Amino acid sequence: MTLRSYLVSSLMLSLVSVSAMASSVEVLHWWTAGGEAKAADVFRSYWQALGNEWQDSAISGGGGQSAMTVLKSRALSGTPPEAAHLKGSELQEWAGLGFLRNLDEAARLGNWDNVLPEFVQHSVQYKGHYVAVPIGIHRVNWLWVNPKVLKRYHLSPPESWPQLLTIAKRLKQEGITPLAIGDDQWQLSILFEAIVLGEGGSDFYRRAFIRLDQTALQSETMEHQLELFHQLRDYIADDYGDTKWNQATHMLIEGSAAMQLMGDWVKGELTAASVVPGKDILCLPAPGTAGKFSYNLDSFAMFNVQSPSKQQAQLQLVNMIMTSDFQHAFNRVKGSIPVLRNQTLTDFDQCAQNSAQQLQLAIDQQQLVPSMAEGMANSSNVKQAIGDVLVSYFNDPKGNAKQAAHQLARAILSAQR
Ligand code: BGC
Repeated sequence: MTLRSYLVSSLMLSLVSVSAMASSVEVLHWWTAGGEAKAADVFRSYWQALGNEWQDSAISGGGGQSAMTVLKSRALSGTPPEAAHLKGSELQEWAGLGFLRNLDEAARLGNWDNVLPEFVQHSVQYKGHYVAVPIGIHRVNWLWVNPKVLKRYHLSPPESWPQLLTIAKRLKQEGITPLAIGDDQWQLSILFEAIVLGEGGSDFYRRAFIRLDQTALQSETMEHQLELFHQLRDYIADDYGDTKWNQATHMLIEGSAAMQLMGDWVKGELTAASVVPGKDILCLPAPGTAGKFSYNLDSFAMFNVQSPSKQQAQLQLVNMIMTSDFQHAFNRVKGSIPVLRNQTLTDFDQCAQNSAQQLQLAIDQQQLVPSMAEGMANSSNVKQAIGDVLVSYFNDPKGNAKQAAHQLARAILSAQR
C-alpha cells in the first residue's frame, strides 16, 4: 500500500486516539549515510503524514557509537529524546537503569506476541516486558560482490574463506582492491564474526560469542580463524583507515574494489545510487554461511517522559511502526526486512526475498545467531572488549594468532566482571 492509502486508514485511527491534536516527538538515530537518510525520510514522512511534528536528532557515525554518547549525556542531564534507536544489549542496559517506557499495553493491544517472530519478541523485551518497538531485521553475514569485476578476470564468487583468499590474491595482482572495508571497530568485528560463523559453524559461534566459553576462545579453531582474519590485511586498501562503511560500498559500486563484507544496510546505499541489488551488485552469503543467519534487529525505545501529550505521541509512533504499510515502505528503502510474520515481499528486491527465505530456513534448522558485532549477543562491555582486541591484532603487521586468542579470552573475562 502507498503512503496515500496508509494516510486514509491512519487518519481514522488518529482522529479517535488523539482528538486531532498534532503530536511532536524528538527521534534520535544515526541514519545519516545516503541510503540510511532516505529511510529516515520515509520514517519522518509517515509520521508527518499523520499531522505530527518530527524533531530530528540525527547523529552521524555508522554503527551508532557517537549517537550512544550523545544519548548518554542527554539522559544524564535529564533531557532524553522521546524516542531513540536502541537495540540489543544497549536496550537491555538502558531498561535495567529504568529509563525506558514499558510498552506491554501497546504490545497487548497490537497482539505482538503473535505477530512477531519469537527471536524478535525476546530482543525487544527486558525481563519479559516489552521495552522497544522493532523496526527492521538486518542480515549481517552477506558478501557483496561486483560481478563485472570478477567476470573480467574469469573468477567465480568465493564459497569458502580459503577460496576468498585465492581470489583476493589474483585481484590484487590486477590492481583491484579485493575487499572494501573501513577501520571502525564494528566493521572489523563484522568481518571476524563472519569468519567464525563460516569456518567454525553456528555451534562454535554460540560457544565463543554467546556463552563466552574460555576453552572455545583459546582453542586451535579460534586461532585458525584469527589467522585467516589477519591474512585479509593484505587484501584491503592501504588507506582503509579513512574509509566509512558507505564509502567502501561506493568503491564496490565503482569497481575499484571487488567485494565487501557487511550487513544489508549496504542495500540502502545501492538503491540510493540507482544500483540494483542482486544484479549490479550481488548479495551472497558470507563464505561458508549459506543457510545461516546472523541477525541485527533495529528497534526504537521510548524514554520515560512526564507530559501526557508526549506519552500519547510515543504510543502513536509505536503503533505506526508496527503497521504492515510502514514496515514495507521503510524496510524497502533501509535494506532490511519487516519484523512482522507472514509478510508478502513481492515488492522487495531479490536480496530481501532471499534474506526472508534464509531467515525462515535458519530458524527451522537452528542456524539463527545474534550478531556479536552488532551488540545482539552479549553486553556492550564484552562487545567493546572483543572489538578492541580485534582492532589492535588486525592493525599489527606482526600480530600473532595464538597471543590474540589469549588476549581475547582475557579481555572477555575482565569485561564480564
Ligand atoms: C544499524 C543499522 C545501520 C548500520 C550502519 C547498524 O548498527 O543497526 O541500522 O544502518 O549500523 O550505520
